[in-house]
Amino acid sequence: MQVNLAVQPFQDVDADALVVPLFQDEKPANSPLAKVDAALNGALSRAVDFREITGKRYQTAILYTDIRIKAPLVVVVGVGKKEEYSPEYARHVASSAIRHFQGRPASRVAYYVRSDRPAPAEVRTAVEGAIYGTYDPNEYKTQERETVQVGELILVGEGVSNSPELQQAVTVGRITAEATNFARQLVNEPANKLTPSDMVERARATAQEYGLEIEVLDRIRMTELGMGGLLGVAQGSDKPPYFIILRYRPAQPGNATLALVGKGITFDSGGISIKPAENMEQMKTDMTGSASCLAAIRALAQLKPSVSVVAALAMTENMPSGHAMRPGDVLTTMSGKTIEVVNTDAEGRLILSDALAYVQQKEGATHVVDVATLTGACVVALGHTATGVMGAPQDWVDFVVNTGRECGEKMWQLPLYEEYEEQISSKIADVKNGGGRPAGTITAALFLKKFVQESTHWAHLDIAGTAWAETGTRYRPEGPTGIPVHTLIDVAMRMT
Ligand code: BES
Ligand code: MN
Ligand code: ZN
Repeated sequence: MQVNLAVQPFQDVDADALVVPLFQDEKPANSPLAKVDAALNGALSRAVDFREITGKRYQTAILYTDIRIKAPLVVVVGVGKKEEYSPEYARHVASSAIRHFQGRPASRVAYYVRSDRPAPAEVRTAVEGAIYGTYDPNEYKTQERETVQVGELILVGEGVSNSPELQQAVTVGRITAEATNFARQLVNEPANKLTPSDMVERARATAQEYGLEIEVLDRIRMTELGMGGLLGVAQGSDKPPYFIILRYRPAQPGNATLALVGKGITFDSGGISIKPAENMEQMKTDMTGSASCLAAIRALAQLKPSVSVVAALAMTENMPSGHAMRPGDVLTTMSGKTIEVVNTDAEGRLILSDALAYVQQKEGATHVVDVATLTGACVVALGHTATGVMGAPQDWVDFVVNTGRECGEKMWQLPLYEEYEEQISSKIADVKNGGGRPAGTITAALFLKKFVQESTHWAHLDIAGTAWAETGTRYRPEGPTGIPVHTLIDVAMRMT
C-alpha cells in the first residue's frame, strides 16, 4: 500500500472515501471535527443525534457526501473513550476502517488525522493499523476471496504537512507494518510450502532486495562447528536443515551487536515423542520465531539504526523416522555442553542452544533477543494475550518489555529462580531437555540460560501463545499475529 501525506484541505482530496475517527459521545459541531461536519452540512451531527454512530470503539457508519466534498463516502469510525485512547487502539481503529473495504472496490482512501492528537504519533499508528488491516490469510483459497483492494492511503487534516518529521512517521509506520505482514505470510504457509530450504530462498531474496549480508550453513558446515543440538533434531527429517545468518551493519558500527535468534521448526510433529493428532496441524507455526527475526532485520535494513544487527535462523523439521533421535540420546552442542534428550518434543531448546552459542562465539553478539514458540506451558500461564519474557540483566529485560508495551505487543516476565534448576539436572549429561510439567516455561528458559554467557544481555521471548490468534481482534484477525516483529524493530531502533 502506498502512503501519502496530503497538504490540501480534506474537501479537495481525490479519494473513494474519507475515514473520520469519532470519540465516544463527542458532539461533532463543537469538536475538532466541526469543519468536517460543516462541510457535510451537519450530516455527521445528525448521524450522532440519531445514534447511527455513538463513537463506541470500532463502530462504523457510512455517510454519503452527495459530493459536498470530493470523496463520495465518509466512513465514520468509533474510537471509544478519549481517556482510554492509546497507540494500540489507534492501530485497531485504522485497521477496522481499512477492513471495512474488504470485498469493496475502493482503491484510494483518505484518513482524517485529528488536530487534537499529536500528529507524528497519530500518523505512524494510523499507517501501521491500516497496513495491518490489509493482511489476507486466504492466499490458498481460489474462490470467495474478499481482499482489501486499497492501494493508496492519504493522510489529511489540519495537522498534516510535508514536514520531515511526518514523512519519517509515515516511512517508519509503513516499513514496520509491512514487515509484520511479511512475517504473518511466512507463518501462515503450510509446512509443505515452506521447508527449511524454502526459508533459505526467502531469506536470500530478502537479503538481495534490502542489501543485507547473508550466510547459510548447511549440514556439513554445522557438523564442522559441532552443532549437535540442531543436527540432533534434524536427523529425523528427510529435508536438510539450514542455519541462516543475516547481517546488518550501520555506517559507523559501535561496540554493541544485537542478535535476533529465531526458532525455525517448519513442522513440529514431536519426533519420536510424537504429539497427539488433535491440533497437530497448528505446528506449522513453529517457525514463527525465525520468521519474526527475518522480518525485523528486513525492516531494519531499510530503517538503518546505528546498532549492528545479526539475525540467526535455526531451520529444521522435527520428524519421527528410523534415523530420528531417541529419548535418552545424548547430544554434544557447539558450546561443548552435553544434553540428555528426555523428550524429543522439547526440540526448540535443542536448536536454540547452538544458535545462542553461534551468535556469541562467531558474531560477537553483546545483546540477544531470542524468539520461540517454545512451550505449551506458556499458553497455560499467559494465554494468547501476553508473550512470556525471561532473561538477564534486569535492565535489558525491562527495556524489551517496555518497548513491547509501546508497540502494542504485551509481555510479562517470569522469574528464573535457581530453585527451578534442579528440574533440568541430568544424571548422565550437563543438562536434560525436559523439566516436567511444573513451571515448564521457566525450566525451558533456564535451559537456554546455560548457553548464554554472564556478560551477554539476553532476553528470551516465549511466543507459543501469542504467535497465532485463535479469536481475531481488529488489527489481528484470526491467524498469525506477526508478534513480536514490531518490538524487535523498535528495540534495535532505540539502541544507540
Ligand atoms: N512447539 C512446541 C510448543 C508449543 C505448544 C507451541 C503449543 C505452540 C503451541 C514445543 O516444541 C513443545 O513441544 N514443547 C513441549 C515441551 C515439553 C515436551 C517439555 C511442550 O510444551 O509440551
Ligand atoms: Mn516440540
Ligand atoms: Zn516446537
